[in-house]
Amino acid sequence: MDDLKQRYLGQIAEAGDEAALESIRLAAVGKKGEVALKMRELGKMTPEERQVAGPALNALKDEINSALAAKKAALVDAALDARLREEWLDVTLHARSRPRGTIHPISQVTEEVTAIFAEMGFSVAEGPRIDTDWYNFDALNIPGHHPARAEMDTFYMHRAEGDNRPPHVLRTHTSPVQIRAMETMGAPMRIICPGGVYRADYDQTHTPMFHQVEGLAIDTDISMANLKWVLEEFVKAFFEVDGVDLRFRASHFPFTEPSAEVDIRCSWEGGTLKVGEGDDWLEILGSGMVHPKVLKAGGIDPDSWQGFAFGMGIDRIAMLKYGIPDLRAFFDSDLRWLRHYGFASLDQPTLHGGLSR
Ligand code: DAH
Repeated sequence: MDDLKQRYLGQIAEAGDEAALESIRLAAVGKKGEVALKMRELGKMTPEERQVAGPALNALKDEINSALAAKKAALVDAALDARLREEWLDVTLHARSRPRGTIHPISQVTEEVTAIFAEMGFSVAEGPRIDTDWYNFDALNIPGHHPARAEMDTFYMHRAEGDNRPPHVLRTHTSPVQIRAMETMGAPMRIICPGGVYRADYDQTHTPMFHQVEGLAIDTDISMANLKWVLEEFVKAFFEVDGVDLRFRASHFPFTEPSAEVDIRCSWEGGTLKVGEGDDWLEILGSGMVHPKVLKAGGIDPDSWQGFAFGMGIDRIAMLKYGIPDLRAFFDSDLRWLRHYGFASLDQPTLHGGLSR
């Protein structure tokens, strides 16, 4: 019996698949298997022999059966392992690296300004950066002899001798877009015009190219009160503060009458600028009621229409909001600066989603 046991347990251990196991089972413990044959021999034994051999044969049968079951389970496990190994699929994805580029603070602030004014019904108008001196000056009530022309440090385009086209300049402000918008859109209208402007000037707060946003609203009953409300709403939304004091200071611009410069209350405590509190005032824009001559130059009848206008430095308010001390750095194309002050490219400023996260 020991012999039988060794043989079959050995064969079971060696069996490579279920079919092999099944033939071992039939040969060992099947109805006509070796153990069954031995059982049949019990009848020929003496009762004493039978008492020993019977339980021993049953025990052998049980042992072979459980070895078969264990081996079968092991074969099933191994088959599953093999199949899983074969069908393995890499479902991981490489992490996508953050986009390398960032949004320049000027672009970001332009988007922020646009989002705020869009909410108040202003659309965006654009004009050329190279414009005639008529649009840049004359149409805005700045005639040839006017000192404002000299003050603006204008870049004039070179003209070859005998070239009689009207003189062109790099626009010194976004105000000429007022005239172009009046010509194409007529009244009533509400627009802002963001864009680059040029003046021959260079120091910590001046660069030869910088950015402004012009605002213009024309209707039959527009007043300084509307201007004040719009600017207050703008400043609150832009600087993301609840209350702001604005100070309107009487001023002079050729293209507005009356004219006002607007300051916002701020503090410089500890060297950092806080908008909306403190005892200091900071000038942020020029504004006023559009001069009748300017409306006329744009083809709009000043007896039927009136409007307000304002012009604001985008770079300036960007410096204020984001604590950028030197204007020149905006245009140095220094990658370290751009990565530090730049904005995530997928984060579009909206009033509901937040302007600057
Ligand atoms: N164009 C002026 C400048 O560049 C700014 C300005 C002042 C624009 C008053 C306006 C305004 O529309 O009404 O200095």
